[in-house]
Amino acid sequence: MWYFVVPEVVFGQDALSHLAQLKGKSAFIVTDKNIVSLGFVDKVKEQLSQAGIQATVFDEVEPDPSLQTVQKGVALMNQYGPDLVVAVGGGSVMDAAKAMRVQYERPDIKPEEINPFISDLGLGAKCKLVCVATTSGTGAEATFAVVLTDTADQRKLSLINREIVPDIAIVDPELARAMPPQITADTGMDALTHAVEGYTCTWKNDFTDGLCIKAIQLVFQYLPRVVKDGNDMEAREKMHNAGCIAGIGFINALSSMAHAAGHSLGALFHIPHGRAVGLFLPYTIEFIGEVREELWAEIAYAIKLEVPKGKRAATILTQAIRGLAHNINQPLSIKETGISLNSFNKAMEKLIDNIMADGSLIVSARIPNVAETERFLGYTYEGKSIDF
Ligand SMILES: [Fe+2]
Repeated sequence: MWYFVVPEVVFGQDALSHLAQLKGKSAFIVTDKNIVSLGFVDKVKEQLSQAGIQATVFDEVEPDPSLQTVQKGVALMNQYGPDLVVAVGGGSVMDAAKAMRVQYERPDIKPEEINPFISDLGLGAKCKLVCVATTSGTGAEATFAVVLTDTADQRKLSLINREIVPDIAIVDPELARAMPPQITADTGMDALTHAVEGYTCTWKNDFTDGLCIKAIQLVFQYLPRVVKDGNDMEAREKMHNAGCIAGIGFINALSSMAHAAGHSLGALFHIPHGRAVGLFLPYTIEFIGEVREELWAEIAYAIKLEVPKGKRAATILTQAIRGLAHNINQPLSIKETGISLNSFNKAMEKLIDNIMADGSLIVSARIPNVAETERFLGYTYEGKSIDF
């Protein structure tokens, strides 16, 4: 038995106006200072006021949000007593809001105690959570996973429980328009990695396959266009949808080795999440290789790649992914991210430890041992195709 969990998704031009139809008295808006300066918070407040909802703004969420920031937000929520939490931002903002909502509704449960097997969180009694996505790729508006950093303890906390899924996801392309090309490219690669890993990990299932394939098609068709011209609103809308679709796809299947490696590299060298996981994606496909050949062929077919006789679909697919990444100025090797060989070698042990301890690795169709992980990282540093 398994579950397929999804928020109510409101998408397309003007989806934001759905806020004016919400019911409630008092909203707590969770965001960051950049989103405030772009004027998006004013737009959200305007819509809420049409519904007669008062709003308080908490704009202190930082990238890689900390447990401490969450606690600060929860203290304010306890003061105001909102019946609506509205996250306006990218993955960090939405993750922080999801965690705040849990702590607000269930102060008796510590964040580190939340796991997939608790079935009685009973969220929704005190407030509803609405996520308004301003980036296209993390899928956080539709997922039930949260990553927090405990700065006091210098560790990452992963909260996964299907009850923490937002009640409503707002996927309005107008809010993604402000993203600069670099963030568009980074988050787009995250969406692609979610979709490919969701389609090929060992927990893939009938409910997620179609979503993942559709997201892959959308990314290949529209990501280069929107990186080139951020005002290409057709491409913006398609990529904004792709990020959410891939989010629903992967969270109900799970991500695997590219995410394990990307988390590790990102945590040690502060490479943005999407750039890091996207960098590892082709190497992961090469490493998993034969055991998923049929699925690589299905993906290749879906994006109209020809696999000549005698060639492997994995090879053709990785060429296409590297071509896409090159096209949108993403690094193709760890070296190209600017990390020196010396600091890479120094970090090797920690990089391997992090990968081996990452929950995402469990669902990889081929799980590397320590020696293979070290080789895998070495090849990825140099930009050499995996041949073992
Ligand atoms: Fe991701």
